[in-house]
Amino acid sequence: MIRALHPVAGIVAFLTILSFWISTVIVELGGDPASIAAVKLAILWGLALLVPSIAFAGASGFRIGGKSPHPILVAKRLRMRFIAINGIVVLVPCAIFLQQRAGAGVFDQTFSVVQAIELIAGAINLALIGRSIRDGFRLTRRFGLATSAR
Ligand code: HEM
Repeated sequence: MIRALHPVAGIVAFLTILSFWISTVIVELGGDPASIAAVKLAILWGLALLVPSIAFAGASGFRIGGKSPHPILVAKRLRMRFIAINGIVVLVPCAIFLQQRAGAGVFDQTFSVVQAIELIAGAINLALIGRSIRDGFRLTRRFGLATSAR
């Protein structure tokens, strides 16, 4: 069961961040303050899906992987720490700050700087989670991905 849910949680986390990222870029290119505020609020609600799915992907991964010294698992564990720290220290605080500013109609320079930080941190987490998905499929040899190719 946990083996079946581990990749589902990971892929849900990836798709959630991807949808936050794409909707942010689209709505901010459009520049309509009400739409930006709506997306920022939706992202805050989306955290209710993202946070548990990342937490589950990580916790289940550590559990299935045990203490294995397999290089792919060593890399997945290390990456997971960055993903979690990036989420807790950067992404969640940015999402809350941006929603509050957008809700109040304040789109100043600070908003833009924090928005840029959020997009960069989001892209980093997408890349890290994406690599863990690829490595996961290498471990289970799904989709013909071989463990030897890096
Ligand atoms: C957000 C982070 C992670 C994502 C997105 C992710 C994703 C995946 C995916 C897609 C698979 C393939 C499953 C399959 O083909 O059935 C997998 C397998 C696996 N992952 Fe992760 N994973 C993550 C974190 C971790 C962590 C931190 C560990 C701990 C070392 C881990 C350990 C494993 C193991 C052992 C497997 C093989 C499972 C099996 O044999 O059925 N994963 N992972």
